Amino acid sequence: MKVLLAGGAGYIGSHTAIEIAKLGHEIVIADDFSNSKPEAVNRIRTIIGADFPFYEIDIADKEKLRALFAAEKPEAVIHFAGYKAVGESVRKPVAYYRNNLDTTLTLLEVMKEYGCRNLIFSSSATVYGAPDEVPIKETAAVGRCTNPYGWTKYMIEVILKDVAVADPDISVVLLRYFNPVGAHESGLIGEDPQGIPNNLMPYISQVAIGKLACLSVFGNDYPTKDGTGVRDYIHVVDLARGHACAIDYAAAHKGVEVFNLGTSVGYSVLDMVNAFETANGVKVPYKIAPRREGDIAECFADATKSRELLGWKAEKTLVDMCRDSWNWQSKNPNGYDA
Ligand code: UFG
Repeated sequence: MKVLLAGGAGYIGSHTAIEIAKLGHEIVIADDFSNSKPEAVNRIRTIIGADFPFYEIDIADKEKLRALFAAEKPEAVIHFAGYKAVGESVRKPVAYYRNNLDTTLTLLEVMKEYGCRNLIFSSSATVYGAPDEVPIKETAAVGRCTNPYGWTKYMIEVILKDVAVADPDISVVLLRYFNPVGAHESGLIGEDPQGIPNNLMPYISQVAIGKLACLSVFGNDYPTKDGTGVRDYIHVVDLARGHACAIDYAAAHKGVEVFNLGTSVGYSVLDMVNAFETANGVKVPYKIAPRREGDIAECFADATKSRELLGWKAEKTLVDMCRDSWNWQSKNPNGYDA
């Protein structure tokens, strides 16, 4: 199938491009580099060993998106094009609502115009807010988000469900990601956060390489096994493979379906620090700091539905996640910048 990856130069998009190209799909990437780098596109080409069309456009630019659809005629779209920093979304809510909703609405309008009926959306476990119980099933309550970023994911899910009701020919797959970490095993592509990282794994990597002095562990008084927050860390290559399964699912089904992409296993912050040190033979100095506002104690998936309906499950281990994160960080201490 010919697949457009909207926002495909970013962390998850770049890994997905490789996994789906490997399966024989034709790929087209569109990205405005607002949170990614042109070098990522070069490296995707190196890993795949082939060229593909790339468009430097803002997905919310309707005329440019139309031109892309007219030229490429994609049969499916994977929609990664959105802002994703939780803290920034609190400071710039209008920019987040504008960008994340506009890209989605523009894609929907142009897809309809050009008869493209398959859409895979990058949603997030953040739509569950503070869950009533773990592991979290897809049927758990959604909403109760704690920041504008989370609300954009929630709102886009609502929009896509409405679209699927109104248009019986469309297929929509909502993928709720848990905590993506790791990198492609080549060390050529990986997560390249702007400025000081917000997320745990890039922060640990930058402490290990000496760019940052010390990890702050946000809270050790949660009701978890060691008091630190527990999350479902998933290797980004496993997550990328989930998108390939979602393309097949969308092609075979109409309507809207939602899937958790997680491992179903929760690890604490201290588990992650220890695993990273052991896997890579490095030191990660840390100190206990106050809780971070908006954080929850525990969040991990019940991924049974993805196994049963998508035929997908996470295969990589915690050691793989730590080793591949470090491989990327140590080979690219400044990310994609030379
Ligand atoms: N943490 C620290 N120190 C840090 C960074 C994080 O102790 O410097 C802790 C957090 O308190 C939390 C855990 O590490 O317990 C994971 O934090 P992340 O920031 O890596 O990830 P979150 O679970 O907060 O958020 C992630 C994504 C969101 C997404 C959410 C879905 O960043 O985009 O998962 O559950 F919405």
